[in-house]
Amino acid sequence: MDLLVVDHPLAKARLSTMRDARTDSPTFRAALHELTLMLVYEATRNAPVVTERMHTPVARTDGYRLKNPPLLVPVLRAGLGMADQAHQLIPDAQMGFVGLARDEETLQPTPYLESLPADLSGRPVFVLDPMLATGGSMEYTIRLLTDRGATDVTALCALAAPEGIERLRAMAAPPRIVTASIDERLNESGFIVPGLGDAGDRQYGAV
Ligand code: PRP
Repeated sequence: MDLLVVDHPLAKARLSTMRDARTDSPTFRAALHELTLMLVYEATRNAPVVTERMHTPVARTDGYRLKNPPLLVPVLRAGLGMADQAHQLIPDAQMGFVGLARDEETLQPTPYLESLPADLSGRPVFVLDPMLATGGSMEYTIRLLTDRGATDVTALCALAAPEGIERLRAMAAPPRIVTASIDERLNESGFIVPGLGDAGDRQYGAV
């Protein structure tokens, strides 16, 4: 399984701000925005590029652009806080949306929104969700994508629990994972420990 932990000092600093229980919502959102830029930057490090000759004001040289921009799929709600920043770095990306709420008792994802292109064959996909806890939400989302023919899926998460990583590893077609941290474990309520609480609530308030 392709697992990349972005343990850059600046990523650690943003994640620490997000973890801190004293951090208010505007500051939490700003830290997640900045961390997303770093995750997307690393996730695209080896992305194929198209080379085109171009002119600078001084000379001719090679210019580059992404050959096959990924479909961006934020998982609502919490993934919305990563969508604009991923789009900022990959402006010609298309965006799909998945809405899931995790049942607090059963920890099963309950879908409420699905807006995705019908055919994803040959298209890389970046799924954006700050938290990979049990992995149920990500597994559900990845099945929606592979059902549409996607074979190149990357899960971008601010932090991940070992349990969630193992669940994705056990899938028939495991995704690539890019995260800023692999935390210790899940607690009995399905929260990541030490984690950061609930990324949706911390950005948008409890519903
Ligand atoms: C959180 C989080 C993930 C999911 C992770 O969302 O943003 O989507 O739980 O848990 P899992 O790996 O165990 O499935 P939540 O259901 O709280 O919804 P929200 O984003 O609307 O807050």
